[in-house]
Formats: sequence, structure tokens, C-alpha cells
Amino acid sequence: MDNKLNLPFLDTPDPERFIKNAAKFSDLMMMYRCTIRELQTKLEVLNDEFSIENKRNPISFIKTRVKKPESIYRKLQKLGYEFSAENIQEQLNDVAGIRVVCAFIDDIYTVADLLASQDDIKILQIKDYIKNPKPNGYRSYHMIVEVPVFFSRGKTPMRAEIQIRTNGMDFWATLEHQLRYKKGIEEMEGYDQISAELLESAHAMIEMDNEMQHIKDMIGQFHDL
Ligand code: GTP
Ligand code: MG
Repeated sequence: MDNKLNLPFLDTPDPERFIKNAAKFSDLMMMYRCTIRELQTKLEVLNDEFSIENKRNPISFIKTRVKKPESIYRKLQKLGYEFSAENIQEQLNDVAGIRVVCAFIDDIYTVADLLASQDDIKILQIKDYIKNPKPNGYRSYHMIVEVPVFFSRGKTPMRAEIQIRTNGMDFWATLEHQLRYKKGIEEMEGYDQISAELLESAHAMIEMDNEMQHIKDMIGQFHDL
């Protein structure tokens, strides 16, 4: 891949235009940060309410990120679009990213359903990699949502990617990401063996998640959980 950044959006000999474009980009990133705040609050409200009623938290923790400018640029380039504010908003779903890590598998679906039932949230896409894990063993529940965010100029529908997973799924995915995203690893001798062992460890994690869910279901017959 060409590592040189070519940013027609910012790379202009006209300083006035450069400043205008840079301001537009930073304005857009502010809007995505606000989108994350709005969705994070919704998730925290659900968690707080649930914890009062059931005396435990379905959500262990929430991690958020705004996609880095370089990743935004590379993704648009891959899709064949130029780097512009319009294309960022229209073509990318994951500039605002929220990862929700839950205690049990059924908590994932509880959180997803409660969020989806809020009438200001529009679900654009769902990928259930828990019911259908990826061939490498990756599991997670992905939602692309659109939520209205109120700015002084008016109501703006903003998109975000929400990944919901258990601690076990998150543990595996985080380590797999660290191990697999090393430059040139795919050409490395023994890569097939590495992939096979990662898949094996994913299966062990599925067993563990299912076992914990089973224990919860057994206790849940006698106690609210
Ligand atoms: P991207 O172009 O990567 O955004 O993929 P996509 O548009 O096909 O969406 P998908 O829902 O498959 O994946 C979105 C995100 O999920 C990725 O950016 C990662 O954060 C995460 N993800 C997907 N597959 C894997 C995987 O195999 N391993 C790990 N660690 N994370 C993954
Ligand atoms: Mg992505």
C-alpha cells in the first residue's frame, strides 16, 4: 500500500482554503465526539436502571474512540472516495465507535434490544458474529445506528458503530488484534499454525462464555439476575 498521505482536502496552496477545510474537518470530528457522548449516556442510563432493579451491572465497561484522520483517509481511499466532509458522513459508518463489554451473553441482547427500542435510534445494520462467528473465531454483536444530535444549527442525524461483546469475546479480540495486525505476519512461516491456535483459543472462550451463561441461568431460576 502507498504509505504517503495525499490529502487533496487539506493539501492546498491557498491558505484561506486550507484553514476553512481544516476547520470543517475539526468541526465534523467534534460532531462525532458528541454522538459518542449521546450514545454513551443512553447506555449508562440503561446500565444504571438495570443495576437498581437487578442489583448487578450488565455492562462491565464502555470504550469509545473517534477514528483517526489517517484511518478515515485510508478507508475512503479503499472505497474509492475522495477525502471530503460529505464522503466521511455519507460513506463511513464507523467514525464514531463505541465498544460495550458485558458480563454475560444474554446481557448483550438485552442491551442491544433496549437500545434498538428507543424511538430516536435508527438501526441501519446489524451483524451478529455471536450467532455467526467469523471463520477466524471472532465474535461480537455489531450495530450501525443513526441518532439525532442537536447542535445550534439544528438536528443532525449521526452514525455510529456499536460493538457489544462479553469480557471473554473482548479479551480474545483484543489479543488477536495485537497479534495478527503485525506487518508481514501473513507471510510468516507458521502462520497457519498461529491461525489454528487462535481459532482453538476462540473455541475455549466460547465454552467459557456458554458455561458462565449456563450457571447464570441456573441461579436465575431462583433469584432475579
Ligand atoms: P471494517 O472495514 O474493518 O470496519 O469492517 P466491516 O465494515 O466489514 O465491518 P465489521 O462489522 O466486519 O467489522 C468492524 C470492526 O469489528 C472492525 O473494525 C474491528 O474493530 C472489529 N473486527 C471485525 N473483525 C475482527 C476480527 O477478526 N478480529 C478483531 N480483533 N476485530 C475484528
Ligand atoms: Mg472499522
